Amino acid sequence: METELFTSTYELMRQRLRESLREIEQKNIDLEESRERLRRSRDFLQTTIDSIDDELMVLDSQLHVTQANRKLRLRHSGQEVVGRYCYEVSHGFDHPCRPPDYRCPLNEVRQTGTSVRVVHVLNTNHDGAGSEKYLEVSASPIYDSDGKISQIVELTRDITESTKAERQIFEANRQLVALNAIAGTVSQSLSLEVILNSALDKTMELINCDVGGILLLDEKSQTLSYAVHRGLSKRFVQGIAGLAPGEGIAGKAAQLGETLVVSDISKDYRVTRPVVAQENLKAFVSQPLMSKGRVVGVLNVASRKPRSFSQQEIQLLSALGHQLGTAIENARLYQELQSKEQMRAELLRQIISAQEDERRRVARELHDVTSQALATLAVRLEALATMPESNIKEMESKIEETRALLATTSGEVYRLIYALRPTVLDDLGLAAALRSCAANSLGAAGIEHHVEVVGEEKRLPPQVEIAIFRIAQEAMTNVVRHARADSTYVSIEFKEKSVALQIEDDGIGFDLSEESSSTDVSKRGAGLLGMKERAELLGGILRIITRPGHGTRVEVEIQVNQENDHV
Ligand SMILES: Nc1ncnc2c1ncn2[C@@H]1O[C@H](COP(=O)(O)OP(=O)(O)OP(=O)(O)O)[C@@H](O)[C@H]1O
Ligand SMILES: [Mg+2]
Repeated sequence: METELFTSTYELMRQRLRESLREIEQKNIDLEESRERLRRSRDFLQTTIDSIDDELMVLDSQLHVTQANRKLRLRHSGQEVVGRYCYEVSHGFDHPCRPPDYRCPLNEVRQTGTSVRVVHVLNTNHDGAGSEKYLEVSASPIYDSDGKISQIVELTRDITESTKAERQIFEANRQLVALNAIAGTVSQSLSLEVILNSALDKTMELINCDVGGILLLDEKSQTLSYAVHRGLSKRFVQGIAGLAPGEGIAGKAAQLGETLVVSDISKDYRVTRPVVAQENLKAFVSQPLMSKGRVVGVLNVASRKPRSFSQQEIQLLSALGHQLGTAIENARLYQELQSKEQMRAELLRQIISAQEDERRRVARELHDVTSQALATLAVRLEALATMPESNIKEMESKIEETRALLATTSGEVYRLIYALRPTVLDDLGLAAALRSCAANSLGAAGIEHHVEVVGEEKRLPPQVEIAIFRIAQEAMTNVVRHARADSTYVSIEFKEKSVALQIEDDGIGFDLSEESSSTDVSKRGAGLLGMKERAELLGGILRIITRPGHGTRVEVEIQVNQENDHV
């Protein structure tokens, strides 16, 4: 019985033991599986953080690295990073990051419990290249099951390229805005002075230069001189005046039509004028100012301290060169137009007053010549009518006197008519009219003269004939009045499609530039202006070649085209 009991108890226990063993076996299997799963999760996590292209590390509360991704490990070429300080691993520092360039985000993460993003600026200026590196550091908290921050994950991304691109865009935008402002100012005004001054001030402000100036190209002498300047000595400005294209830096820039940048102009071999070295200038840029492919001036900016000019600054100057060049050209054309308008108005006034003078003179001469003579004639005829018939002899002599008086009066009237309108021109043509005019003015003044006709004489449209005649008349009058000449040569050439006149004297000549630059138009003679106007009205060209002590030659050529035929 006991044995049975024992046996059954033993069996029961064995069974229980087997079951327990099975249970333990099962738990062991579960544990292994959990371990395996955990390992796989860790591997997956590591693979995931390794695949991130930025540097990633997990930090404990002591700023020790507890985990790092592949990118970070690679930078340390296999050296263990786990266990080291984050600042040492990140930047190679032996102390925690400090502001302003290295603001540490970790404290803020702990205080706020949220992610914090900072930018670290690394100066890699060890070799003087002066480049900067920008790192964006994002730190985020990791919470434990109690809701406390147990670790912090820090992600570091190199944003140098995008920051530089952003800065370049910002800079380009700033310069565009400035260029737009300059363009606005220069296009708003037609005053050369306003354009030059405002463009120079704005450019210097933009390029951040304390020295600058604008040289303009003088059309006649084809040389450059400063029109406006800032921060330059009077001696320098005067010493540079009359710079020929190709001379010095500004001259070279004008000749090549290209921007020239010089790091130290005081030592540049191309500089020709000694004042440049004495002016203590260092960095120097010459920007040609262009209009329709032609150089109209040069914009110079300079610095007394060594400095460099960025690519954007040079591009800006070059863009400005075209805008300013066009604005200068426009202002000059406008000025020219205004002075032409002024001249035209003055000429018109002079023509009207000359016409009035002429009418007054004709009226006076008519009065002097004819009314007195007619009155005398009337008295004589009256005397003749009442004279006794027996006094034949006296009658004959009175009739003779009366005829002589009539002849003189008709001569005078003819002279007046000729002055008003040379009938010889209408009747006999240009050559005869020129000969007659030369004889009447030059000949009468005792000046030897020679009138030559080149080509076959032909009749020209009346307005061309009268223009040539009046020009010749004025030129000959000028010879008589001003030239003190011994002899004068007049030539009229009939070409196939034009007519050319030349009047050359061997007199004292004069300074044409003084004559035409006289600012008070009312004091200028109307003769030269009138001749030019007459020629230009018919599309012709009038040239005056003269110089004190070397005589004067007036040349005019007028096309005889269909247009002039119909005028
Ligand atoms: N052939 C010449 N020789 C020397 N000087 C001259 C000659 N022609 C012109 N000039 C100079 O140019 C000036 C301008 O000539 P212009 O014919 O325009 O005026 P003007 O003769 O003085 O006056 P007007 O209006 O009556 O013609 C003259 O005053 C004179 O000094
Ligand atoms: Mg004159």
